[in-house]
Amino acid sequence: MQKKVLVTYASKYGSTGGVADAIGKELCSKDAAADVVLIKNAGNVGSYQGVVIGSAIYMGKWMSEAVEFVKENREILRQVPVAYFLVCMTLSQPTEQNRAKALSYMDPILKAVPEIKPVGIGTFAGALDYSNLSWLNKKVLKSKGTPEGDFRDWNAIRTWAREPVYAKFVR
Ligand SMILES: Cc1cc2nc3c(=O)[nH]c(=O)nc-3n(C[C@H](O)[C@H](O)[C@H](O)COP(=O)(O)O)c2cc1C
Repeated sequence: MQKKVLVTYASKYGSTGGVADAIGKELCSKDAAADVVLIKNAGNVGSYQGVVIGSAIYMGKWMSEAVEFVKENREILRQVPVAYFLVCMTLSQPTEQNRAKALSYMDPILKAVPEIKPVGIGTFAGALDYSNLSWLNKKVLKSKGTPEGDFRDWNAIRTWAREPVYAKFVR
């Protein structure tokens, strides 16, 4: 039977929404029925047979609404397959060190809600447009050498949506 999957995400400037859409489309192409929604619009979590939760990274963290979503829905989420993903600029340069750093952004949520064991954790490069940012944020990010541009790797995102997400959601 077709599985109903929720792909829900937190974002400030939209690039994480593009990643969530690509995940949702890939799941639908594999015969799941995916709803892709911002976390603040996520409806009845209990009506889904799998949940993918993602967030942009700001100051080394998932956005607070993503963390709250997991905490508030922990009882439901521990009973269905769950996958987490993050979108960040650290992975614009995907060195071993940066991959480890990006993965470590998930540590607080994994520790805060240990009963949820995600079937996969997707770590993806995002996009940054300096023209959107305040003078201060621009200065901070430039001083760290954070590049501007769209680094989203659509093949990597689609591949992750197939394996592990689709493969583990459809048992
Ligand atoms: C103020 C600010 C802080 C950020 N902090 C981080 C960070 O700590 N680590 C990181 O890898 N990327 C960081 N980023 C990059 C974002 O995670 C990246 O641009 C992401 O694609 C934004 O997603 P969104 O467009 O969905 O909001 C930061 C971006 C901004 C504007």
